[in-house]
Amino acid sequence: MTPLPQISTGSAPGKVILVGEHAVVYGQPAIAVPLNNLHATATITSAGHYLEKLVVDAPGIALHTSFNKLAEDHPLAAAILETMRTLNISEAPGGTLRVHSALPVAAGLGSSAAITIAIARALAACFATELPATAAAQIASAVEHLHHGSSSGIDPTVIAHHAAICFTKNKDPEFIYPHSSLELVIADSGLTGSTREAVNAVRKLHSDSPDRFSSIFAEIGALAFSARAPLEAGKHEMLGALMNANHRLLQAIGVSTALLDALCAAAIQAGAYGAKLTGAGTGGCMIALVDKSGAPEVQKALLAAGAKSASITTLESTTR
Ligand code: MEV
Repeated sequence: MTPLPQISTGSAPGKVILVGEHAVVYGQPAIAVPLNNLHATATITSAGHYLEKLVVDAPGIALHTSFNKLAEDHPLAAAILETMRTLNISEAPGGTLRVHSALPVAAGLGSSAAITIAIARALAACFATELPATAAAQIASAVEHLHHGSSSGIDPTVIAHHAAICFTKNKDPEFIYPHSSLELVIADSGLTGSTREAVNAVRKLHSDSPDRFSSIFAEIGALAFSARAPLEAGKHEMLGALMNANHRLLQAIGVSTALLDALCAAAIQAGAYGAKLTGAGTGGCMIALVDKSGAPEVQKALLAAGAKSASITTLESTTR
């Protein structure tokens, strides 16, 4: 038996959706970017052979238990099992799998996909196997499907590729290369929002009023389509206006909250180019697109308006 390496690690970033959530589930395009400063990490400290059991330690959710005691559909067990299936591994390694995430849970920043991909990468490293980004995204999509019901796959894709993308369901992502860096303030409303519940609620509204909702989704898709050029060209005023329009449409489909609306208004009042909720909504985070020099002012305004936390993050420019 090949000896296992002592320590194997994997990590994956969080993400924000700049334009297009929810409509993306219905086949419209959406734009998402990775978060360079917020990651999930997984570390396997191997016992050196397969006979030991695998202990899963996730202090963030107060979990410390043996892998074989976890239900198969537990998100961490599902991440391990799906990765083993993909990599053709019949037995989990012995040792400890420690999971840590700096991403708030159920807040729209892609915490579940980031944790799954971090685990998948740690397992692949443990077995000295390559795990291409597309395979990592497929693993996270399968786990997400189990927990979030029908999802578009945008979170796993942007997180696995760690790159800005224009995403359409069931298609390969198109990579985006912003010419200038993008400054965002991300504020957490402090209330969790379940992706599954939000997506299901929107589906119910869509099936009750298909024409009205299909036309809103098409409008959101058109905003995402229009956002790509200003994002690439660094025209942040234009991009901000599209984000504001997107937030209004997200309000119209019922996924915003009074606090998220108040935070968006406060950010714009403090000088942001644009602001919107990000992710599934019904709680969670909002984002404000800002000028670098104006970021601290917007951060202060968001905290004063009731955000639980507000952090400044930069998406660096990239070239082809
Ligand atoms: C969640 O980050 C984005 C949603 O559009 C769901 C999905 O696309 O899977 C709400």
